[in-house]
Amino acid sequence: GIESTCDETAAAIVEDGRKVISNVISTSVREQALYGGVVPEIASRRHAEYISATVDKALSDAGMTIRDVDAVAVTFAPGLIGAVLVGVNFAKGLAYAAGKPLVPVHHLRGHIAANYLTHPELKPPFLCLVASGGHSHIVAVEDYTTYKVLGKTRDDAAGEALDKAGRTLGLPYPGGISIDKISPTGDENAFAFPHPRLDTPYDFSFSGLKTAVINIVHRMEQKGETLPVADLAASFQKGVTDCLVEKLEKAATDYGYTSIALAGGVSANSRLRRETDRLCRQKGWQLHLPALKYCGDNGAMVGAQGYYEYVSGVRAQPDLNAYATMPIDRPTF
Ligand code: KG4
Ligand code: ZN
Repeated sequence: GIESTCDETAAAIVEDGRKVISNVISTSVREQALYGGVVPEIASRRHAEYISATVDKALSDAGMTIRDVDAVAVTFAPGLIGAVLVGVNFAKGLAYAAGKPLVPVHHLRGHIAANYLTHPELKPPFLCLVASGGHSHIVAVEDYTTYKVLGKTRDDAAGEALDKAGRTLGLPYPGGISIDKISPTGDENAFAFPHPRLDTPYDFSFSGLKTAVINIVHRMEQKGETLPVADLAASFQKGVTDCLVEKLEKAATDYGYTSIALAGGVSANSRLRRETDRLCRQKGWQLHLPALKYCGDNGAMVGAQGYYEYVSGVRAQPDLNAYATMPIDRPTF
């Protein structure tokens, strides 16, 4: 499984969709932090530099050569186009040279599959909240390659909102991680952030929360007041995670799902994990949380989903392209 949609260059060897043999991640996140966010051009350049050694290490850590693998899976969408192209082109060359089938994987399908690596007993159907830096979806996972999107964000993704709030509060990039770290030292009820009312019951909107925190910070700065950073971070984290959990609860109730999963970078958030756990215990639903090491972008999740795409007959030709956007339920390539 090969992954390069954002700032992680990653490769893994996965057996039968469930067992991780090796998992290697190279990241440009420290360099991106200098700029307060991902600079796409820098991400693409680092992928091009790292990818060959990353894939080599995944093979050597597994004690294998490319001859030992059955197929090459690669994330082909969605993501930063220049970044995705590096992984796709490398995977195409590798598969062609080694005479292996090439399997295209949708990035969010990969995030969902991180749960198969963590929970050997988990099988579809289940309901998954996918929250990352680029997407926030409530997805009915009907089968390993069949999905229905019940709701999604109208504007910012949850991770994007957390990152922007973190930046406004002067916290290091990625803001989502910084906010999670600092929040336990703050009062999450110090500030009330709005829960937007939308006419579609399972959709999200985070731009109002983002504007609210920016306005609070500007007002306090203009008055020369000291920013209560931890209180603001904790309150903002509460605002975002409560919105996510609220919609997840509504979708699961309305559609009758009792098997629930989280996925994506934001699924590492400790408050989101705690509150979803509380909800599922209260309802008697079964909750699946991806192991922390599989929440962020990685190659193992691509290998896991790649297996299920492979057994369902999905193959890409050498003309496979990369795409910045792509629906999870109807990918075309
Ligand atoms: O899935 P991911 O690694 O990359 C994308 O596909 O976008 O998600 C990255 C996002 C970032 O916005 C980051 O701030 C957020 O996940 N994130 C977190 C935490 N760890 C990563 N947000 C909240 N709490 C965390 N612990
Ligand atoms: Zn991701």
